[in-house]
Amino acid sequence: MSTRERTRPSPELRNTVKEYDGGGETVRALADVDFSVAPGEFVAVVGPSGSGKSTMLNTLGLLDVPTSGTVRVAGRDATTMTDPERTRARREYVGFVFQQFYLIGNLTALENVTLPTVYRDDPDAEERARTLLDRVGLGDRHDHTPDELSGGQKQRVAIARALVNGPDVVLADEPTGNLDRDTGEQVLGEFAQVTDRGVGLVAVTHDPQVAEFADRTVRIVDGQLTEASGEAANLSQEVDPP
Ligand SMILES: Nc1ncnc2c1ncn2[C@@H]1O[C@H](COP(=O)(O)OP(=O)(O)O)[C@@H](O)[C@H]1O
Ligand SMILES: [Mg+2]
Repeated sequence: MSTRERTRPSPELRNTVKEYDGGGETVRALADVDFSVAPGEFVAVVGPSGSGKSTMLNTLGLLDVPTSGTVRVAGRDATTMTDPERTRARREYVGFVFQQFYLIGNLTALENVTLPTVYRDDPDAEERARTLLDRVGLGDRHDHTPDELSGGQKQRVAIARALVNGPDVVLADEPTGNLDRDTGEQVLGEFAQVTDRGVGLVAVTHDPQVAEFADRTVRIVDGQLTEASGEAANLSQEVDPP
């Protein structure tokens, strides 16, 4: 797959508010957030448990619709899209990586990576998936199922899957949270290659190692986002309870 020319505007949140109904009282998970991620930029998102980090990723990734404000992806306001339009935009422009990998257990690595491409006619999809698996160092694991892969290998399959439709941005929620330090570092190396190819990356993390790799760190507290570069050293106080 050749590097796609990126002329589209960066994915962004503008005055974005997300409220949930928390059993009678309203929980404001995002309070007037402004955020964007440039092509090739790696942004780490830190903050205490329950502060709105996952809500921010899910909103930027078109999984969640904000209560007010806008979400722009590929220059289009996703809040005015119909559900099918939003689903299509998500498949086309956004890749997700999760702490728990979320691979399909009875599919091979190659089938997992190809899965996001099956919704449209895409004759090159399998070859792209093979190339991506080779690139993340799994050239000899195409036909292995997830239970035959280590944690780090599973997360590398998930990264390949996130890239298979050529997204503008990859959104990663605690991507190294289930990995030991060395394996986490290998996965971060894969993310560095993602951004080298012009894809934006937003990673929620408690892991100081991740924040060290990032170009920029933002912090969310009670749904409010602030730039937080240089504060990565204090992350260890914020680890979620098991
Ligand atoms: N689907 C939901 N329904 C109700 N409340 C939610 C839902 N998702 C998240 N919340 C609440 O929104 C706030 C932010 O949650 P979240 O974004 O998951 O935080 P974080 O990822 O930083 O731990 C929390 O108070 C959480 O309880
Ligand atoms: Mg979360």
